[in-house]
Amino acid sequence: MISELGPASEDESASNGSVSEILAALQAAPHPQRAGLLASYLRTQVGHVLYLSADAVPMTQDLMTLGLDSLMIMEVIAGVSKDLKIKLYPREVFERPTIEALSEYIALEFDRDASAAGDASTPGDLSQPGGLRAHPNTWRKPARRIPGIVFLLSSPRSGSTLLRVMMAGHPDLFCPPELHLLPFSTMSEREQTLGATYLDEGLQRALMELSGSDAAATREVVCGLVERGAPIQEVYALLQERAGSRLLVDKSPTYAIDRENLEHAEELFEGAKYVHLVRHPYAVIESFVRTRMDKMLGLASQNPFFLAERIWTDTNRNTLEFSAAVGPQRSHLILYEDLVKDPRRTATDLCAFLGIPFHEALLRPYEGRRMTEGIHAQSLPIGDPNFHNHVGIDAALGEAWKRVRAPRALSPATVQLATEFGYELSRENSPSNAPADSFAAIEEGRL
Ligand code: A3P
Repeated sequence: MISELGPASEDESASNGSVSEILAALQAAPHPQRAGLLASYLRTQVGHVLYLSADAVPMTQDLMTLGLDSLMIMEVIAGVSKDLKIKLYPREVFERPTIEALSEYIALEFDRDASAAGDASTPGDLSQPGGLRAHPNTWRKPARRIPGIVFLLSSPRSGSTLLRVMMAGHPDLFCPPELHLLPFSTMSEREQTLGATYLDEGLQRALMELSGSDAAATREVVCGLVERGAPIQEVYALLQERAGSRLLVDKSPTYAIDRENLEHAEELFEGAKYVHLVRHPYAVIESFVRTRMDKMLGLASQNPFFLAERIWTDTNRNTLEFSAAVGPQRSHLILYEDLVKDPRRTATDLCAFLGIPFHEALLRPYEGRRMTEGIHAQSLPIGDPNFHNHVGIDAALGEAWKRVRAPRALSPATVQLATEFGYELSRENSPSNAPADSFAAIEEGRL
């Protein structure tokens, strides 16, 4: 499972096929010894960023009190990703801020495998905190609705970063990374939920782009908005004002997990348009588990397979029903598989829906400034961490679902919905298919 847990990136696995010393040692070690190996590895890594010797890094002291800050954490995470082939998220470190806790945690993560996949008894409780959930109790209806926005809705791992970056090239659109605004009533509420994650950085990245200022200056702007508890609608209005004649696009793979969020959009905006991006559930679930999205979203105690499926189904069911309610003038469905197979056609239809002319830049997502990097050199990219492992729109990924061997059958609700989108479900339709050991048993190579 060690090598399966989440290839840090295809680049790294492919270009640097070698296994680091620490990874080889961990693979060879029996489980009880792994935490010890990890502890000495982590002490060296943390010592390196703090300019301390490994011996001077204590096992049980809170690393933040030693001066470890969020940028240093990013550096440690980058090292872990390269050496251990595990994609850790900052939240995981903030929640276990000692060497002892972190090394025990990573050792356990090595064992997190398909054993969970067959355990459908683990309920998919999505009510934990995180950027996912709507906070409708605190919403206050604004005095007036404001015009001019497009929401790009999808489940995570549906190709939403690709579509966002394609749209970001259009001169009539302003399409920044994930803003994570809609679930909240005010900026202070948003800060309380997202403060310890890096999910709040998309807004800052958007402001950097609009003002030409650096991370520090835009942090001040965000802090000012947080301090005075600025209403979320005001923040949208600020972005719109700075974007000038460009239409604001708010891309989010988490909003539609709650139907309330979509209703909130209708309360804040007049005539909002909604783009619904859907991808085959096999591909989404496999990618979600491999990239450890549950950890990023702070839903770590969940069975990741079950959780991924629940999110796919809830998100797409909510969006489908909501789209039917707002009607075809304001909602537009895109299948990821069509997007990558025939991007020109899909983008042309999208532009027609948005009422803007088609632009060739939509087809060249890796050219020009598209806000694909984080706010600091060390920051995680906001959105798909694997986006830069590609150099163009990769049509082959539209077929990725065919190579996924699902470890457990999808629920009837998922099957029903996938069928409504026209997706083929080889496992469900072929009872003789023996269950695979895990998603990670997917063909060696790209996946
Ligand atoms: P994987 O990297 O697991 O394959 P999202 O942005 O919604 O999180 O979706 C991420 C997925 O988008 C990626 O998942 C990948 O399949 C797809 N994707 C990213 N860049 C792409 C590209 N250039 N061409 C085609 N698909 C891409």
